[in-house]
Amino acid sequence: MGSVSLKIGDGSARFKRATLCSSTVNVLMLFSVITTNLFALYAFTYSPKDHHANAVHHTHKNISLISEQVSLILSEIDSSQKKLTQMEKELLGYDSIDLSRPNIANELKLFLQHHQLPLGKDSRTGITEMVASVGHTCEKSMDLLSQYMDYKVNGPCPDDWSFAQKLILRGCEPLPRRRCFPRTIPKAGLQSFPISLWKNVSDKIFTWSGLACKNLECLNSKKLNRDCAGCFDIVKGYETQRYIKARGKNDFLIDDVLAMGSGGIRTGFDIGGGSGTFAARMAERNVTVITANLNIEAPFSEFISARGLFPLYLSLDHRFPLYDNVFDLVHASNGLDVGGRPEKLEFLMFDIDRILRAGGLFWLDNFYCSNDDKKMALTRLIERFGYKKLKWVVGEKINGSGKSEVYLSAVLQKPARV
Ligand SMILES: *[C@@H]1O[C@H](CO)[C@@H](O)[C@H](O)[C@H]1NC(C)=O
Ligand SMILES: *[C@@H]1O[C@H](CO)[C@@H](O)[C@H](O)[C@H]1NC(C)=O
Ligand SMILES: *[C@@H]1O[C@H](CO)[C@@H](O)[C@H](O)[C@H]1NC(C)=O
Ligand SMILES: *[C@@H]1O[C@H](CO)[C@@H](O)[C@H](O)[C@H]1NC(C)=O
Repeated sequence: MGSVSLKIGDGSARFKRATLCSSTVNVLMLFSVITTNLFALYAFTYSPKDHHANAVHHTHKNISLISEQVSLILSEIDSSQKKLTQMEKELLGYDSIDLSRPNIANELKLFLQHHQLPLGKDSRTGITEMVASVGHTCEKSMDLLSQYMDYKVNGPCPDDWSFAQKLILRGCEPLPRRRCFPRTIPKAGLQSFPISLWKNVSDKIFTWSGLACKNLECLNSKKLNRDCAGCFDIVKGYETQRYIKARGKNDFLIDDVLAMGSGGIRTGFDIGGGSGTFAARMAERNVTVITANLNIEAPFSEFISARGLFPLYLSLDHRFPLYDNVFDLVHASNGLDVGGRPEKLEFLMFDIDRILRAGGLFWLDNFYCSNDDKKMALTRLIERFGYKKLKWVVGEKINGSGKSEVYLSAVLQKPARV
């Protein structure tokens, strides 16, 4: 007689709290254990009732048939185990971060601990406990995360922001908070606003650790991305003409676009806005712009803030931490090129639409369409939102190696929907 033992997941599934979720999983698991064992029992004891009638099949039980059945059952059990583990993760949210595994930094455990509200359920919000927020995909990078959370409490933080950014780029966003002091850099020589918008500052006031370049001159000699080639030269470079002088029909002028908003453009959000030049030109026109960026290969955030502008350190995989209908303008260029499946761009576009007010403008600026399919997909997606096309230009540019590249620029006005 055989018996089948069921090992759940990696043996470390935890059901500490008697919540609705975990008891659902318990019941499901119990059910699974019973049914799979019954299956096994059945398989081992089953013999055909009519074996007297059938002379050909009245021999001994066919061993290979049985082992075939058993392996079927085992694979069935294996797949239900996987399903249960998956369900447990989905139901328990970040509790799928297994804090019982070895080498977990104690600070991570402390940060993720649930805190019961002292007076029980809060009548306004309906919550009974406070939970800390951390990206669910942190679970995939537990070793990195634990290393990130391994520091001296009240001491100086390790010099590891490039390491933190690596976690963010792997989807571990938001990162857990830490109780340490980051290195301070004396910000000597900052100018007052608005002189600060176009003034050189010393290389020494930026963080260069983890970067290939160690000064601005090095950065300016590189094409960091499609929207930033020499973009840290705000004294002599092309950056000083951007948005006020057009190089081609895909370049719109900032004053023309503001005129389309008929005076109602006071705030804006710039996605992947390089060194902050868009925000700088807008600031000169009394429009407040937030520039969203990561520090990929360059100290973008610090540079933007040195210009007296507002940097937002955020990956584009993160829902914008901004309320609905709050911006008069959203500006984006090749930062929108998020890759992956078409749905990925859709999620981003819907989030852009969410933060833009009705009547507000979406300025798509020199978006590189690597092929016709990409252009069509983006066009169809934009058209689905029902924006009014105030400007729409598809143009070609010859790139460094003499090849023609297609770019799309557009100014679109968000409709009022009911
Ligand atoms: C057992 O069954 C397999 C097919 O399932 C067959 O190939 C084999 O000949 C059978 N053996 C006996 C001893 O009946
Ligand atoms: C300003 O910075 C650029 C590099 O961005 C450099 O070439 C130039 O010499 C600097 N000018 C001054 C006055 O420091
Ligand atoms: C910006 O605001 C200041 C102070 O209110 C005003 O003097 C200036 O003319 C404004 N600039 C523009 C371009 O509107
Ligand atoms: C120019 O475009 C071609 C085709 O899109 C590409 O393969 C090449 O790398 C580009 N060259 C530069 C310098 O961007």
